Amino acid sequence: MVLDYSGSPNLGSPDGFASRLETEGLVLLPGQPFAVGRDEADLVSPRWSDGRAKNISLSPGGDVRGAAEEATAERRLGRLMARYRDWAESLILEKAPRYEGSVERGRTSLRTRDVAEGAESKRKDDRRLHVDAFASQPTGGKRILRVFTNVNPQGEARLWRVGEGFEPHARRWAHRLRRPWPGEAWLLRRLGATRATRTAYDAAMLGLHDAAKLDDAYQRDAPARDLVRPAGASWIAYTDSVVHAAMRGRFMLEQTFYLPLEAMAAPETSPARILERILGRRLT
Ligand SMILES: [Fe+2]
Repeated sequence: MVLDYSGSPNLGSPDGFASRLETEGLVLLPGQPFAVGRDEADLVSPRWSDGRAKNISLSPGGDVRGAAEEATAERRLGRLMARYRDWAESLILEKAPRYEGSVERGRTSLRTRDVAEGAESKRKDDRRLHVDAFASQPTGGKRILRVFTNVNPQGEARLWRVGEGFEPHARRWAHRLRRPWPGEAWLLRRLGATRATRTAYDAAMLGLHDAAKLDDAYQRDAPARDLVRPAGASWIAYTDSVVHAAMRGRFMLEQTFYLPLEAMAAPETSPARILERILGRRLT
């Protein structure tokens, strides 16, 4: 079920929003809460991309990547993404005050590519239903919380598909989730393939991500419905638990956050706890 959130910020209790967001996984914000300024409009264009990276992005440390080597544009792109990051962070903290002091900033991205361009492989194709899991960036069980805004200047909607709930999804693929080999996490780290140790949890999540994306029959027949996000719309999603695919659209701002399970209002709804219940072993 999707919660079209437009009510009071607390839904009756201080943790109301957090537990609804954690349970539903997805909250659609009303109206157009973040706008690209008139002096920023020229930045929402493919011409600032370096032509190699998928997105232009800002690291939590302030480095701009993927932008054309033009100093002024790079600085301005950095300012736009920083402004989006600050807005997204205050939004999360205003709606879910219990996350204060726990939520960590990840990257901010400006996605100028057309989703319809596709990808080099099924595994990298975000038009195929999946839950997010990053091969090189293990979260160790932390949640992946993302704030999206469709900033398409031509007024085009972004089309997502949203699939089954996390628990049925995890049960569907549980038999395909293998345990990492002894020493595998260490080796990946040593080879520089991962930026942190890939825990059993991260391995299981990657297993889910790949199993779903690589299965043509699942992609064709899986239960899913369309979610249309008009230009200007923003939404918040736990993309590690919401089964999703980006089907159409271009120009989006996105902020990633990481949240430790301990900060959650309903940690039993987290992928880590659900997978542990299904697999009958500890993952984090
Ligand atoms: Fe995704």
